[in-house]
Amino acid sequence: MSVNLITASLRVSIGLIQFCAGMGSPTIIYEAIPVQSGYSALYKLFADPDKFNAKKAKNAMSNNKTLDAVAEIFARFAHYGNLEYGESVTQRQHALQTACLAEDQGAGSLLIAATLLHDFGHLLHDEDIADRGIDAVHEELGAQYLERYFVPAVVEPGRLHVQAKRYLCAVDPAYFSTLSPSSVQSLALQGGPFDPAGVAAFEALPHWQAAVDLRRWDDLGKDPHMTTPPLEHYRPHITAGLKTDAS
Ligand SMILES: [Fe+2]
Repeated sequence: MSVNLITASLRVSIGLIQFCAGMGSPTIIYEAIPVQSGYSALYKLFADPDKFNAKKAKNAMSNNKTLDAVAEIFARFAHYGNLEYGESVTQRQHALQTACLAEDQGAGSLLIAATLLHDFGHLLHDEDIADRGIDAVHEELGAQYLERYFVPAVVEPGRLHVQAKRYLCAVDPAYFSTLSPSSVQSLALQGGPFDPAGVAAFEALPHWQAAVDLRRWDDLGKDPHMTTPPLEHYRPHITAGLKTDAS
């Protein structure tokens, strides 16, 4: 057995012990195990933060007083990201695809973070909703949660993304024809296209244009075959949107 293979074996063993004991993070394991070690299956299992152990994620969420906001977002994607979004994609796929489209179109970090988190309300567990006494649609629920940690440029486009759909249906005749059947169905439940007064009111809101951009990517982020970077790729964008003492 070569020195490299022995070293790799030790690293894998340490990673497994850390993982099972809840002491380490998948990111640490990701960095510790070399790709060429011959443990490609283990590497993939432990390297992908999106596959982060659900039990550990739930434990982390239960201690959220000390958990920082970014870690909590990763934990929630790990625990709830496989929930069905609809239209043959999961919540995680939809979030990653929407963010990927935004990045491909040259969006800035804050808007990329906003696109990634625009449906975060779907990743909040029922107990969180009950705890906060909120009876709200998902975009408002997500925004109320995120605004504790993130600047408005990250929060508000997501809060407005359903209104942006009503806006686009009112001002862009071609837009409606692009909606999926389920999106057409939900439009009726959301109040239908804005009337002229609704259009004017929407255009008076801060971040309305970002919400419209987000909405167009949102509508495209439903491809079961689309390849995207993993959630970890978006960590710098999420972090860039955190509130500071000055914000
Ligand atoms: Fe969405």
